[in-house]
Amino acid sequence: MKRERWKTQIGFLLAAVGSAIGLGNIWRFSYMAYSYGGGAFLIPYFTALLTAGIPLLILEFALGHEKQGSAPLAFGLINRKWEWLGWWAVIFVMFGIELYYTVVISWCVNYFGYAFNLTWGADPNAFFFKKFLGLSGSPGEIGSIRTPIFFALCIVWFLNWIIVYRGIQKGIETANKIFMPLLFILTAILVFWAVTFKGAGVGIRAYLTPDFSKLADPKVWIDAYGQIFFTLSLGFGIMIAYASYLPEKEANITKNAILTGVINCGYSLFAGFAVFSTLGFMAVSQGKEVSEVVSQSIGLAFVAYPKALSLMPGGKLFGAIFFFCLVVAGLSSSISIIEAFTSAVVDKFGASRKKVVTVISILGFFGSIIFTTNGGLYWLDIVDHFLTHYGLVVVGILECIVAAWLFKVARLRDHVNRVSTIKVGTWWDALVRYFIPLILGIILVGDLVGEFSKPYGGYSWTAIIAIGVDWVLFTVIAAVFFSMRPWKKGELAPKKE
Ligand code: ALA
Repeated sequence: MKRERWKTQIGFLLAAVGSAIGLGNIWRFSYMAYSYGGGAFLIPYFTALLTAGIPLLILEFALGHEKQGSAPLAFGLINRKWEWLGWWAVIFVMFGIELYYTVVISWCVNYFGYAFNLTWGADPNAFFFKKFLGLSGSPGEIGSIRTPIFFALCIVWFLNWIIVYRGIQKGIETANKIFMPLLFILTAILVFWAVTFKGAGVGIRAYLTPDFSKLADPKVWIDAYGQIFFTLSLGFGIMIAYASYLPEKEANITKNAILTGVINCGYSLFAGFAVFSTLGFMAVSQGKEVSEVVSQSIGLAFVAYPKALSLMPGGKLFGAIFFFCLVVAGLSSSISIIEAFTSAVVDKFGASRKKVVTVISILGFFGSIIFTTNGGLYWLDIVDHFLTHYGLVVVGILECIVAAWLFKVARLRDHVNRVSTIKVGTWWDALVRYFIPLILGIILVGDLVGEFSKPYGGYSWTAIIAIGVDWVLFTVIAAVFFSMRPWKKGELAPKKE
């Protein structure tokens, strides 16, 4: 079976950008900037992009392209003993992150509909937590499935399935060629509209006025690296799989990595203007400080924003565009997660893409259901914490070690330079060999120390172990199991006499 290929270079770039730009770009970056020194935060953020984000993107693109394979194949070809690492990345991302990511997209689908008549009413906080999520008292009280979320979930999984089912060119490439320009145009409409709001300037000042004293806090730097890692979809196995579909001779790895990183981070910075103009408007119209109305992630999208939408003229349309942007940004990331797992199974077992995508979409859909229940938000919070802190970061460290210490990093660099117009020097080897694993190691140790001092999020230890720790352990076991199965085809398959 011949490997599928992107039809065009721009198709690959848009798919990589589509994977990178996700929910986090819209609701997390701007809050981080605001709370970590405003404009001054751009220093650690862009330092992290230049010293870890882009170099790791180059590494993941290089691994996928040089080995012409998904994460398990790429690591397996370097050393059969490390194949499990590739499996682990694609398994915990597909059967962990993806399961709740699709549920959050489903909330956005619901809120897209609600925006047209501002269904949340006068108290968006009570509406979201009590009426919409019907949140229970603890993770142990699962309760029942929330019908509106469930129906939206069916739509989201159907879209995911149909796009990935159609393959690299007809599915993922075509979808991103529509999604990305659409997202950029709609975001630009939101930004240019929002900066005209009364109070927009107050919000933007809160967002960007530099406070350099914050940069003395190591946490600001550590979180900047953590954010760069998640936002560029590093450690997910996605960029490895995507790069494996680039033509063998013409890959332009460095240029694509630089563009992906810069477009992704530029988008976050730009979208922040819409977020903070709106928050500024809300603060001014209620006679409050921005600090009193600001929030991040779920609180920003589903509580603060709806409140502002109810206050502003044209809030219904503005809200519909905002939630639509979240859906598009979310979908272009969620399909990339499914692809990373699909390509791994196709590589190893020679199975048909269509069958694999159908089976994992069904399994994924059923797996997501737990997050649509009354206790779903708690589950989401715990699983997200453990997988992003211990899954992605550990994969990041180990992939540097495997690529730079077990495989010769200079060989990868030669490969990168052979197929790229922009060449990388030995500085790249040093970053991959020493600097990036060290930074990620510091993040990991810091996280672990925090973990043991008190249970995350104030949950019970039972919930933390039963949900978070077990999720990590089971995915490791599944990864080892998959890596022990024999290869059906390709260079790793046992040679016939
Ligand atoms: N990179 C994707 C995001 O930021 C996963 O949401």
